[in-house]
Amino acid sequence: MMRDYLLVYINGQRHEIRGEEAFFSLSDYLRYTRGLTGTKVVCAEGDCGACTIIRGSLRDGREDLHYEGINACITFMHLMDCTHIVTVEGLQDNGSLNPVQQAMIDHHGAQCGFCTPGFICAMSDHANHCAYQSERPVEQLETQRLRNALTGNLCRCTGYAPILNAGESIDLKAFTPLQQRYDTPEMLSDLQAHASHSVQIQTRERLFYAPNNLRDAAEFRVRRPESRIFSSATDMGVLINKEKSDPVVITNLSRIPEAHSLREENGQIVVGARVSLSQLENFCRSRIPEFARLMRIFASPQIKNKGTLVGNIANASPIADTLPFLFVAEAEIELYSTQGTRRVNINRFYTGYKQLDMRPDELISRVYIPMLPKDEILRLYKVSNRKDLDISTFTAAIRLQLDTQRQITGAAIAYGGVGPVVMRLPRTEASLIGCPLDVASFAAAGKLAREEITPISDVRASADYRYQLAENILRKCQAELEEQTSEAVVF
Ligand SMILES: Cc1cc2nc3c(=O)[nH]c(=O)nc-3n(C[C@H](O)[C@H](O)[C@H](O)COP(=O)(O)OP(=O)(O)OC[C@H]3O[C@@H](n4cnc5c(N)ncnc54)[C@H](O)[C@@H]3O)c2cc1C
Ligand code: FES
Ligand code: FES
Repeated sequence: MMRDYLLVYINGQRHEIRGEEAFFSLSDYLRYTRGLTGTKVVCAEGDCGACTIIRGSLRDGREDLHYEGINACITFMHLMDCTHIVTVEGLQDNGSLNPVQQAMIDHHGAQCGFCTPGFICAMSDHANHCAYQSERPVEQLETQRLRNALTGNLCRCTGYAPILNAGESIDLKAFTPLQQRYDTPEMLSDLQAHASHSVQIQTRERLFYAPNNLRDAAEFRVRRPESRIFSSATDMGVLINKEKSDPVVITNLSRIPEAHSLREENGQIVVGARVSLSQLENFCRSRIPEFARLMRIFASPQIKNKGTLVGNIANASPIADTLPFLFVAEAEIELYSTQGTRRVNINRFYTGYKQLDMRPDELISRVYIPMLPKDEILRLYKVSNRKDLDISTFTAAIRLQLDTQRQITGAAIAYGGVGPVVMRLPRTEASLIGCPLDVASFAAAGKLAREEITPISDVRASADYRYQLAENILRKCQAELEEQTSEAVVF
């Protein structure tokens, strides 16, 4: 079945969205079409969190909605099909402020107030998670978790102490989870019934197509080669807002069930095209903890709740944070077209700056990440000017296999930010084979690493600094491994 409208609930109210409005940014739609001006826009590029809203979406195997905070400024209405949007206006409970809103007042958490709705939405999302979705119900928010939950929100005047004080004082027992307030059987069955439909919205200038199977998506790629695939638009939304791109034919895989699939199969993690970075981070926590640790400092919760692994790969930035890990893990990209599927090792997927081994009629349907043997060493690094919510200056992945004497028998090293694409360092890798995990071996390897890279100076760092990082990261890795070994001996 094909629909010519989007189904969206906003603060519990049902809306069918047709025509031009399907192409509005979510923040414009909320503010100008619905008059919900509590959602603010400051940076319009996902960086400040002023536009945070809470999105409820259907998740496989769950009867209720999964709620999570996202940025409204860099998403579009066509990406919100079959979701429930809760704005700051929808957080009030029976006409009274909810405990998060009240805490912000009690603790003087706002001066100009412009960032405040975004903070309240991000905090309410975290409170909702702790009150409802957490495996371990808690009565108050933990400081460190609260800080992590607010990494996507900036305040220019209040100072963070009163905001954090407000968050720490929230009485979670008084917080009614969004699922209990909003998830009526009527809304859930309405969303579920619509989720299996394809959607096509044609206006005079624009076309949006979301098929419900891969075959139709691939045929559309052939029919409309100029079409642009939107995954979650955390990259595309910024380009559009900054007027660097304006695709008029848009396709999206969100109505295709297998695009949402994330599973472990035959020693591999299989990641569908629409799996979010937050889902992947949670999934990898017990399976590839080092990758999950790196993902903690990827962007902000709002970006990760929306952005996808496939978008990070297809965007082809040499400083995309997931890539060095995928390179050393020998991940494979599955490309789908009307001619069938083919799998490309990610080490051969990038052919130049922003150039992919992907034909115009192909799309990425899945990513296969091999599970790493438990006895291997994996170290991942992100160097950026700021710890949270910052674009990397330099990234690195180092994977080592050791024999029983702790001599290196295998090495894979990938660096980002030191050339037009993420690079493997074959000579540096080879130099480590047969070496012990000592300072001299890693210092020598670091010198060699300098010869294998071609960094440039840009706004984030100078080429000299990147050369130094390429050398020093190996020494850092060695120092950490030595510390770990001596700790193991002590215990
Ligand atoms: C504030 C902010 C912070 C960020 N921080 C980080 C960070 O710390 N680290 C980092 O690495 N990145 C960061 N990013 C970049 C971005 O969030 C990631 O690259 C994200 O993974 C993109 O995923 P998406 O689903 O939003 O992609 P989209 O924006 O939807 O798409 C990105 C590209 O992929 C293409 N594409 C999407 N799906 C497919 C498909 N199935 N087949 C073929 N092509 C496809 C699109 O056409 C587009 O060219 C940040 C972005 C913002 C706005
Ligand atoms: S307005 Fe700054 S993140 Fe949206
Ligand atoms: S209160 Fe002014 S930006 Fe936060």
